[in-house]
Formats: sequence, C-alpha cells, structure tokens
Amino acid sequence: MKRFLMCEPRFYEVCYVINPWMEGNLGKVDKALAQRQWDNLHGIAARLASVSLIEPVAGLPDMVFTANAGLVHKSDVIVSSFRHTERQPEARHFERFFAAQGYRVQRLRQDTIFEGAGDALFDSHDRLWIGSGIRSDLQALDEIVEALGIEACGLELVDPHWYHLDTAFCPLPEGLAIAYAKAFSKKSVDTLERTFGEDIVWVSESDAENFACNAISIDRNVIMHRASAELKLALKQRGLEVIETDVSEFLKAGGACKCLTLEI
Ligand code: ARG
Repeated sequence: MKRFLMCEPRFYEVCYVINPWMEGNLGKVDKALAQRQWDNLHGIAARLASVSLIEPVAGLPDMVFTANAGLVHKSDVIVSSFRHTERQPEARHFERFFAAQGYRVQRLRQDTIFEGAGDALFDSHDRLWIGSGIRSDLQALDEIVEALGIEACGLELVDPHWYHLDTAFCPLPEGLAIAYAKAFSKKSVDTLERTFGEDIVWVSESDAENFACNAISIDRNVIMHRASAELKLALKQRGLEVIETDVSEFLKAGGACKCLTLEI
C-alpha cells in the first residue's frame, strides 16, 4: 500500500507571490473552503492509501504542499533547499520529520536549489525524471544520481507557469504518463516522446490550466482537480479511472492534488 505525507492547511493562505498563479490572489483564499477541500482530498487518499501528517507551522503557508519537502527513495530522503526565502524555513521542519521517522536524511551541496518531489518523479519503471530551469537547478540531477546511486533523466521547464515538473508531467502505472508539452523545451518534449511513445497522453491547455497533470496516481486511480471528458476518456481507454476533487483554493497558490501530497 502506498503511503503519503500531508500537512493540514491550518496556516495556508496566499501572502506572497513566488509563481504567476499567486499574482492577484493575495489574501483571497477562503480558508474554511480550503480546509474542506483538503479534508476531501485527505479522505480520498486515506481510502486508497495510508496517510501520515506533519504538524503545520504558523507563518509557513506553503507547507501544505508537502511534495516539496524532499525526494524519498526507499529509506533515503534528500531534503529540499528552496529557491525562495519565503519557503526556506520549511526545510528544517520537514528534515526533523524525516529524521524522526528513521529516514537517512541527505542534503545536496549548500548552494544547489532542489524542490523535492515537485521536481523529481519516478515513473512505473523506477526511472527518475528531474525537472529544472525554473525552481530546481540542473546541477541537482548529478548530485541526486550520486547520492542515491540511481540513474535519472533531466527535463527542461521553460514557462514560469509550469515551474515544477509535477505541474506538467505525471507518470502513471504500466509505463503510461500525462504531460503538457508547452511547459517543456523542444528537446525535452522529444525525450518524452521517444521514451513513452504512444503511452504518453498530451493534455490540452485547459486541462493543463486545471492542473490535470498535478495528479496523484494510486493503483488504477488518478486523482486530480478537474479533467475534460476527452482526458477522462483517454485515460479510461488505458484502464485508468479519474477521480476529480475540487482544490480551487490551492490553485490560487499554484498547487493542486499532487503538490498536497508526498509519497513516502
Ligand atoms: N506556492 C507554492 C510555490 O510556489 C506552490 C507549490 C506547489 N508545489 C508543487 N509541487 N508544484 O512554491
């Protein structure tokens, strides 16, 4: 059974701007609604998997996005070092959590920016995909390969709206994946096409903007904020069931279902 880490949105709000989605949303989060939406997502995740919680910290509104806590591989975890000062204090809280849970905690070199599973995703063949160009440094790839002793493929992100790899790419079971092409350099689109061939579903702009690629994959279920009939059908034809759950309040900070969880 998969296990996820989540963080209650007790202190969640939009009070600074570090990605384009946050612009115009300062102070606009409906906190009671955010709590209900998070409860629903937590309920779905807890029905299909096991969920651990980390205590939220006042003054760290983006801590709800646990995908950015670090990259977990077996009993190793590489904790994040955030690009923006606003999120940097989260790192030590996540680090303490992982250490208390018995993980072997590793860090990349002091000046290497790395935002965890937001930019590092394993596909169903255990191949690690690492995004860079907006948040995480390209440099992180070599350091992760060395730290974990595994292979990894790099993908270059080119549009600040798709600032983390998990906003535009989601590996699914049996070698499948969904992705949004405009988020990537031409070379990276070619890499994905070459690797996944028929097994990658390229989503439309409106699905991308509904954060369809920011999905949680559990068994045959793909949990996402919203999906078009076309995307649902494409996934159904490949044996996958979409579960939609509204996380509109979190879209205001540039995050959706997958960002709110970290597989541990
Ligand atoms: N406001 C947060 C940020 O910009 C959202 C993080 C979303 N997380 C993710 N894994 N995409 O850092």
